[in-house]
Amino acid sequence: MDFKLTEEHQMIRDAARDFAKNELLDGVIERDNTQTFPAEQIKKLGELGFMGMMADPEYGGGGMDTISYVIAMEELSKVDASASVVVSVNNSLVCWGLDTYGSKEQKEKYLTKLTTGESIGAFCLSEPEAGSDATSQKTTAIDKGDHYILNGTKNWITNGNSADYYLVIAQTDREKKHRGINAFIVEKGWEGFEIGPKEDKMGIRGSDTHSLIFNDVKVPKENRIGEDGFGFKFAMKTLAGGRIGIAAQALGIAAGAYELAKEYSKVRKAFGTEIMNHQAIAFMLADMHTKIEAARLLVYKSAADKDNGDNYDLSGAMAKLYASQVAMEVATDAVQVHGGNGYVKEYHVERLMRDAKITQIYEGTSEIQKIVISRSVLKD
Ligand code: CAA
Ligand code: FAD
Repeated sequence: MDFKLTEEHQMIRDAARDFAKNELLDGVIERDNTQTFPAEQIKKLGELGFMGMMADPEYGGGGMDTISYVIAMEELSKVDASASVVVSVNNSLVCWGLDTYGSKEQKEKYLTKLTTGESIGAFCLSEPEAGSDATSQKTTAIDKGDHYILNGTKNWITNGNSADYYLVIAQTDREKKHRGINAFIVEKGWEGFEIGPKEDKMGIRGSDTHSLIFNDVKVPKENRIGEDGFGFKFAMKTLAGGRIGIAAQALGIAAGAYELAKEYSKVRKAFGTEIMNHQAIAFMLADMHTKIEAARLLVYKSAADKDNGDNYDLSGAMAKLYASQVAMEVATDAVQVHGGNGYVKEYHVERLMRDAKITQIYEGTSEIQKIVISRSVLKD
């Protein structure tokens, strides 16, 4: 077992770290305040190859491994979790889903644009009455021969307005329950496809989250992904990898908050000495460092499982469950280390604390990860 990063992985880490420092840091507070989508930065990330890292190079992807992807996610998330969720959805849900299960024609038409950042993708599973309970899909896609007619509402969709292409999950045959669900590629601007207002969120405020409304939207049959009835499996398999990306995001938020707290503890004085010399602060930093290291091992393990062709449902769920808990704990402690300054925007840690919370909710709440984990371990 080798715990060292390869030279290539180190290069990816440095490139992502430089990008975060030079392109994301400046303006991150303003974008959070004004809920502004980092459009220019995402375009540049696409040009640098960060939007389709793991996808097939034949379709413009980077052909990289999942370890490279989680390294990049950690670095970007240390500084701007709003930008990193856009990267995550595009890479591990949309590009990976299309690359793995799309037809050659779908890949040529859509994937080539998504991997380069020319277009952005969205993944649309959740509904007002189908969040954790994802098989309860109310959105319908009725088979009309050469096309489907799509009706319904999706909730909380990341890249809701910024996306060009949407992977939409819908029920085609209610009798067959989850085996009667399909996934479709829907283009922005199609007749009957309406984008709802932007959600005013606690965190990741630079990402745009919208509901989507479909009123008799005509979807050509060639835009269905996979065989008839494959949609729910498609969503589950795609989300299993997506959870590794969100675990890496949570790890990055924790690591970013910890680094800020450590630096602050070296310069802030109280009672005649730097606060790092107070054991209460030093121990808090020791706990933060240990938790982050443990989370990173779980994240890398799940990425390695995926790269090695092993099952990663369990390791991905554990990585997300633990890393998101660590993100919340570490970011909260980082605010504590900063004292009053931790409570104001200028010092970044209050934003990281707000951003951390979402990692326990999306791509399956912590309770859902525990369902996945317990089912897996009890099956053995
Ligand atoms: N891989 C392949 N198939 C899987 C699977 C997996 N990992 N997990 C489940 N399935 C299959 C099952 O085999 C079953 O199919 P068969 O009957 O044909 O065998 C089918 O899916 C239904 O499985 P369950 O009976 O286990 O279904 P359930 O109703 O008990 O729910 C669940 C399982 C794990 C709770 C699931 O509903 C779930 O993951 N819920 C959370 C939804 C979620 O994560 N949403 C995220 C939305 S995207 C997002 O959030 C993006 C973002 O923020 C940025
Ligand atoms: P509910 O399912 O109503 O859950 C409420 C509470 O009950 C939670 O604590 C949950 O853990 C608990 N609970 C539910 N069922 C069980 C159970 N069986 N056992 C124990 N506890 C349970 N979705 C997408 O499809 N695409 C996106 O791009 C996307 N982006 C998002 C971005 C943001 C900012 C947010 C907030 C959400 C996003 N989502 C997206 C939706 C997200 O995946 C759901 O919010 C999440 O899956 C939880 O569903 P819910 O909100 O309906 O909560």
